[in-house]
Amino acid sequence: MDTLGNLFVVAAPSGSGKSSLVKALMEVDVGVAPSVSHTTRAPRGQEKDGREYFFVDRATFDRMIEAGDFFEWAQVHGNRYGTSRQAIAARMQAGGDVVLEIDWQGALQIRRLFANAILIFVLPPSWDELRARLQRRGEDSDEVIELRLANAREELAQVNQFDYVIINEVFERALFDLKAIVHAQRLRFSAQKRVHADTFKALDID
Ligand SMILES: Nc1ncnc2c1ncn2[C@@H]1O[C@H](COP(=O)(O)OP(=O)(O)OP(=O)(O)O)[C@@H](O)[C@H]1O
Ligand SMILES: [Mg+2]
Repeated sequence: MDTLGNLFVVAAPSGSGKSSLVKALMEVDVGVAPSVSHTTRAPRGQEKDGREYFFVDRATFDRMIEAGDFFEWAQVHGNRYGTSRQAIAARMQAGGDVVLEIDWQGALQIRRLFANAILIFVLPPSWDELRARLQRRGEDSDEVIELRLANAREELAQVNQFDYVIINEVFERALFDLKAIVHAQRLRFSAQKRVHADTFKALDID
């Protein structure tokens, strides 16, 4: 895929803070937009269809797989999650950056389709803190929390396949790290040449 924008893919075990970090990034950086995923899981709390996710039933989700609508999809904790091609491609073609928050399987699928994707893994500072965050969030039963922690052991083993690692201990520090990754990407030669075409031309650089 030949695109102008960057695709940032953020993965992390449940409770590490990826949604919090991505949300905070988008609040301070209008150049980054989310790609809203489809899911078969039920909405939590204040979640709205089309905002956090497109909530669809399993039959609809499977029809979309058949139709090849998904850039990637995966089954996580018994539910299916997918990223529609349409959503991402349109924005990137227009030069915008896209940030995707998905599990590691989805992240690696994306890299296979789009080698320039920037893969970022968010780590919690410790097991104790990860458990505490899931408990404090108060959205999952003890049983679901244990399932999430068990899955996290396998997920952490994938961190070596990612380009960048953020340790989300102090939130502001982790947000700074995320902003730094996004910023560095925008300073790459190809991006600078596109954005500052006039300067390059004035300097007689092709
Ligand atoms: N640095 C931090 N210090 C303390 N608490 C944090 C920090 N970052 C996030 N949290 C809290 O931890 C909880 C989990 O964070 P969040 O929901 O962003 O995780 P997630 O990775 O998106 O999880 P999931 O995969 O289940 O969606 C939230 O209650 C959030 O407010
Ligand atoms: Mg989340």
